[in-house]
Amino acid sequence: MKIFADTANVEDIKQINELGIIDGVTTNPTLVAREGKDWESVEKQICEIVDGPVSAEVTASEAPAMVEQARVLSKWADNIVVKIPMTAEGLKAVKVLSQEGIKTNVTLVFSAMQGLLAAKAGATYVSPFLGRLDDIGADGVELVQKLRQIFDNYGYRTEIIAASIRNYQHVEQVALAGCDIATIPAKILVKLWKHPLTDQGLVAFEKDWAEFERLQK
Ligand code: E4P
Repeated sequence: MKIFADTANVEDIKQINELGIIDGVTTNPTLVAREGKDWESVEKQICEIVDGPVSAEVTASEAPAMVEQARVLSKWADNIVVKIPMTAEGLKAVKVLSQEGIKTNVTLVFSAMQGLLAAKAGATYVSPFLGRLDDIGADGVELVQKLRQIFDNYGYRTEIIAASIRNYQHVEQVALAGCDIATIPAKILVKLWKHPLTDQGLVAFEKDWAEFERLQK
């Protein structure tokens, strides 16, 4: 499974990228606004750091304006993917953009049929929002499972990005479900490689090795 960083924080992205396990980045208007910096320069910096797709989201709501904005965003860097909201206007825009060869990530997907329509329109990626579904008592992981089956049934090449990830279990469950990508906030990424038994085991190895070396002298 590919792992994307779900953040617009350039410092976090630099640090995470050094691990060598990051395949891309997703941003959204909320994440960019949180940084309080110029949008274009933030996205361009991220695109230089990460050798993989970087999603930047349109802010227009009508299809022609989305398409115009997407054309501009796609010129910011070779690895920009344009995020389009899952609306009727968004579907129209995705159809045009896919015919132009501009990569799209259909965002705010909350049902299997939304995902199917996005794939039919030619989306490169669809982003089901797990955490926000769980928040209303629905099952975000189940949506990923359904999308996996539907895309496999009909041979859609659209990749599924599990978004709105809130915890370790989300990542593990979508990996088991055969999801293509999980986009993960920095604070949850840390939890993927940390384990108290690893830390305790290392302390014991270091102690035993120091004792062994002392006895060799
Ligand atoms: C990524 O593509 C999404 O915009 C992001 O995961 C949304 O996360 P949130 O539901 O925590 O805001």
